[in-house]
Amino acid sequence: MRKPIVAGNWKMNKTVAESRQLVAELVPGLQAVDSVERVLCPPFTSLMAVAAMLEGTEIRLGAQDMYWEASGAYTGEVSPLMVKELCQYVIIGHSERRTYFGETDETVNRKVKAALAHGLLPIMCVGETLAENETGRTAEVVSRQMRAGLAGVELKDGKSLYIAYEPVWAIGTGRAATADGANKVIAEVIRLALATLFNPQISQEVRVLYGGSVSGKNAADLFTMPDIDGALVGGASLKAEEFIPITRAAA
Ligand code: PGA
Repeated sequence: MRKPIVAGNWKMNKTVAESRQLVAELVPGLQAVDSVERVLCPPFTSLMAVAAMLEGTEIRLGAQDMYWEASGAYTGEVSPLMVKELCQYVIIGHSERRTYFGETDETVNRKVKAALAHGLLPIMCVGETLAENETGRTAEVVSRQMRAGLAGVELKDGKSLYIAYEPVWAIGTGRAATADGANKVIAEVIRLALATLFNPQISQEVRVLYGGSVSGKNAADLFTMPDIDGALVGGASLKAEEFIPITRAAA
């Protein structure tokens, strides 16, 4: 059985002081839900402060991105070694990275490999745009992102990799995918790609999250689906009164 996971992607929100405030509000409620992997992904600037506050809890920390080189002349970048000092997880290839910062399937692939090589748990994001969805290209696009993002990746088992299915049209729009629709893409495209790239057992072990306008209202419905193992939550992860119930719904 796959243990559910709920990860909060804070995106470019919260100063250090604001992060401390949010974490103080989150910890008691999140601590109580120990059948779920709980992950907070604040901005880089808040990682140290949040890491200190999470010490002694079961709540884990993730970065929202990282570069693939271990060190060197890469102004502005953050390396896997730096992330690894503070975090267990790293989000890779979020659609906002792909859209605004020129990330490609190839850079995603390099980052996934670097994360695994450094013992970090990558949460690789895939998902189609509205135009791709409306022209019936979802399976083709998601399948390509899976194959290219995971090209040459070797896994011993499925526990070290996470996939987030995030339809771009559902992110931050208040218009989540239907539970059935998301489950179908995960089962028929994402798990199929995993079975082909690795093997059927790994395909059944990898945790696949849904992301895109997850809220306290729709979370329970999404989590009843057999192939949805949790959520990558953006906007609703910035409010304790929304994020805690979402995490409870995954239990
Ligand atoms: P949202 O973002 O929950 O605000 O739609 C999800 C994400 O981008 O990971």
